[in-house]
Amino acid sequence: MTQDELKKAAALAALDYIVDGSIVGVGTGSTVNHFIDGLAGLRSRIRGAVSSSEASSQRLAAHGIEVFDLNGIESLPVYVDGADEIDHGFAMIKGGGGALTREKIVAAVSERFVCICDASKRVDVLGRFPLPVEVIPMACTHVARELRRLGGEAKPRAGFVTDNGNLILDVHGLSITDPVALERSINQIVGVVTNGLFAERGADVLLLAGGNGVERLE
Ligand code: 5RP
Repeated sequence: MTQDELKKAAALAALDYIVDGSIVGVGTGSTVNHFIDGLAGLRSRIRGAVSSSEASSQRLAAHGIEVFDLNGIESLPVYVDGADEIDHGFAMIKGGGGALTREKIVAAVSERFVCICDASKRVDVLGRFPLPVEVIPMACTHVARELRRLGGEAKPRAGFVTDNGNLILDVHGLSITDPVALERSINQIVGVVTNGLFAERGADVLLLAGGNGVERLE
C-alpha cells in the first residue's frame, strides 16, 4: 500500500469513533482530508463539525457538513486529527500543515483525541520532524534566539502565514526526551502563540495503519 492508502485506511477507521448526533472535532492535513471525505457519507448521523483550519472548514462545507464556531459549543465528544510524529506515550509533534494553534484549541475542548496515522509517524523519541512553533511576527528573531538556548535551530517557514496571521518557525535538531517539559518551556517564551508539541494533552486513541491493517491502540 502507498503512504496515502495507509492514511486513508487510518482515517476511515476513525469513523467508528463518531458519536451519533454529536458535533465532531476535525483536524487538518492530508490524512484528515480522507476522514472528512468519509464523514460526508455519515452526514445524516452528525450535527456538524468544529474545524481546526480554513482548509478543513472549506472541505467540510463542500460536503454539506455544517461548520460550527467553537465558542458556541459546550463539549466535543471526539476530535480526529493526524500527526507528524507520535511516540509510545501518545505525545505528538503536529503543525506540519501550520494549523497547530487551532488544532490545540479544539483538542483541548474535546473529550477524546483520536489520532490517525500511517505507521511511518510512530517514533521512539520525538524530534526528527522539525517542531513547528507559531510566533507573533515581530517576535520572530527573539523567539529563534531563545529556541537556540533550548538546543534547537529555528528556521522561518518561507512564504507561510497561519490562519491567525502569524509566522511559523520550524525547529530542527531537538531530541525530545521530556515532551511535556519542553512544551511548557517553549510556551513560556514571549511571542510564542503555541508550539506543535501535543504532550500535556496527547492522543487518547491511536489508529495506526501499516501493512497488516489498522492497529487500534489506547
Ligand atoms: C497540520 C497537522 C497534521 O495533522 C500533520 O501535519 C499531519 O499531516 P498529514 O496528515 O498531511 O501527514 O498537524 O497542522
